[in-house]
Amino acid sequence: MVGGGREDLPARADELRALIRHHNERYYQLDDPEIGDEEYDALLDELRAIEAAHPELVTTDSPTRRVGAEPVGSLEKVRHPEPMLSLANARSADELRAWVQRMRSFLAREGIEAPAFRYVCEPKVDGLAMSVVYRDGLLERGATRGNGEIGEDVTHNLRTIASLPLRIEDAPRFVEVRGEVYLPLHDFAELNERRAAAGESTFMNPRNAAAGSIRQLDPRIAARRPLAFWAYGVGASDGLAFPGQWETLAWLRERGFPVNRDIVRLDHEDEVIERCLDWQERRGVLEFEIDGVVVKVDDGELQRRLGAVGRDPRWAIAWKFPPTTTVTRLLDVRWNPGKYGDLHPYAVLEPVHVGGVTVKLATLHNEEDLARKDLRVGDEVIVLRAGDVIPQVLSPAPHEVERSDRSAPPEPPERCPVCETPTVKPPGAVFTKCPNRDCQGRRWQLLKHFASRGAMDVDGLGERQASLLMERLGVRDAGDLYSLRVEQLVDLEGLGETSARRLVDAIAASRERPFAKVLFGLGIEGVGEVTGRSLAQRFRTIDALLAASPEEIEQTPGIGPVVAAMIHEQLTDERMRDLIARLRGAGLRFEEEGPAPGDGPLAGRSLVLTGTLGDLTREQATERILAAGGRVTSSVSRRTDYVVAGDAPGSKLDKAQRLGVAVLDEAGLLALLAGEQPES
Ligand code: IVH
Repeated sequence: MVGGGREDLPARADELRALIRHHNERYYQLDDPEIGDEEYDALLDELRAIEAAHPELVTTDSPTRRVGAEPVGSLEKVRHPEPMLSLANARSADELRAWVQRMRSFLAREGIEAPAFRYVCEPKVDGLAMSVVYRDGLLERGATRGNGEIGEDVTHNLRTIASLPLRIEDAPRFVEVRGEVYLPLHDFAELNERRAAAGESTFMNPRNAAAGSIRQLDPRIAARRPLAFWAYGVGASDGLAFPGQWETLAWLRERGFPVNRDIVRLDHEDEVIERCLDWQERRGVLEFEIDGVVVKVDDGELQRRLGAVGRDPRWAIAWKFPPTTTVTRLLDVRWNPGKYGDLHPYAVLEPVHVGGVTVKLATLHNEEDLARKDLRVGDEVIVLRAGDVIPQVLSPAPHEVERSDRSAPPEPPERCPVCETPTVKPPGAVFTKCPNRDCQGRRWQLLKHFASRGAMDVDGLGERQASLLMERLGVRDAGDLYSLRVEQLVDLEGLGETSARRLVDAIAASRERPFAKVLFGLGIEGVGEVTGRSLAQRFRTIDALLAASPEEIEQTPGIGPVVAAMIHEQLTDERMRDLIARLRGAGLRFEEEGPAPGDGPLAGRSLVLTGTLGDLTREQATERILAAGGRVTSSVSRRTDYVVAGDAPGSKLDKAQRLGVAVLDEAGLLALLAGEQPES
């Protein structure tokens, strides 16, 4: 609504802008919104309406300008006010010590003996370097690094990054902020899921997704990708001078720029090395991808004295994590049906050593991913193996693409490689499927899923055992497990008396798993761990769930109409009904036993877990909190009642402290679960 008389409009527009800026800060900086999305949108809509009617009232820092309406024709080249440098690498503790030694020798020649270095260690986020220029406090222009001298103007897209200030207070007339644009892993995964669901191609990694987004001509596309920004430096400026890197970061933080909270200042190179190794280890658990650690000499004066060699400053170095990619030959592409029949391609590779192990097979995710990567059998391909994740084929080696004698693109098979049923690809579907619900391949996947850690957790029932049970003993599904006897198992390949007994015991023990796990274990498409829990809590018994209409299923938190219909359809399938009946007969739990929501010592309480707990695994802690009527969420806000912090807690602990949320250790959690008042 555009209210008030004509002359009030400029004042109202200013007021709206101030309000929106305030709420942005609550949301993005403090993670503590005061108003809901609707109210926020209403403010923005009102401002948009005023500005549309009176373009003369638009200011360049108006929040409505985050998504400039018009796409640009092409990306303009811009010269950076100050060249953007790159970094030399260190790949080991020795190389890092050698760097320190080089600096000492260099300074000694300049007459500076035994300088006391302090170091600032920053995660080297794998995104894109940016130069962002502010004039008179207003964001004027943002550019990619390009060749270091000349980059591309991406202001229209940078403006869409909500955590990047459009205006800074208390600013010099001119300042160039340096930082990295990246896509948080969580958002990357969601973006890819959304794209896959919409039948669009997915991105290979967060860096590519960020690069693809920031270089879009149409800012509306970038605005839909939740890009983020870490500030790590100041380039050219009008009159700013900092004692060192640490103060530079503090200045940036005070001006509202996001600065990574894990950044530390350390006094000794041994501590630096320790820190780098620590990050290397934690690499897989961070919320963003890092490919190393940037170590900088803190002191500004020493930095100046040290200067640069070519493009690399002497005063900084990138500790690079060990390479996790290599090149090998793609020998074949094969396909396997998944739990729901989707055919998943995988690569057979010439065995190669990477990331510390020999890799012979690698995932190719799905047929769309395979097509997008344009891999051909016979190609040399780039293989990635990082941390504990399954090795994957990233792309053909660059030279392959030029080759004219490549083989034809691999196609999904016309018949299921396991049951030979003709495969189908319904119009509009992304994946080719084996439509046969009795397919042994699908059954194998379902059986493995049932026994898996997150579901019924049957210890000792892995891939191999699942195959043996199916092939030798005619096991068809989970319903056949509970009648297995030790005598039947002892003769199976590799299963002696002891392990046979153990497996039978493990199967028996799984009868105790709660209803939610049983629901998840059934392998209903659309029912993951979380949905399984929600369904169990909402319906409380399998009979109630089996009797539910799609509309009733849709009332469950997190389930939309499409998934509700899908779940309903599967639950009415005769085979599913039969499986449920047999599992019920075997004594599994088909009723929710925990308190109904609203009961129990933690009723209505919301908890966040961070770090490693001592006795309880995270999974166990979650189970017990849920059983006590509480909720476990993944991010901290003012609505969080408790943050339970174990060893090596992450940024969630910082946030809890900032927001004044009560923090507990494991003992405190146990006290809460027992209905006592914890000491926080
Ligand atoms: S400082 C003089 N700090 O690493 C220092 N760079 O080769 C120049 N990067 O492409 C860069 N995180 O985008 C610096 N905390 C950080 C960084 C960082 C990532 C990237 C940067 C550049 C490359 C340096």
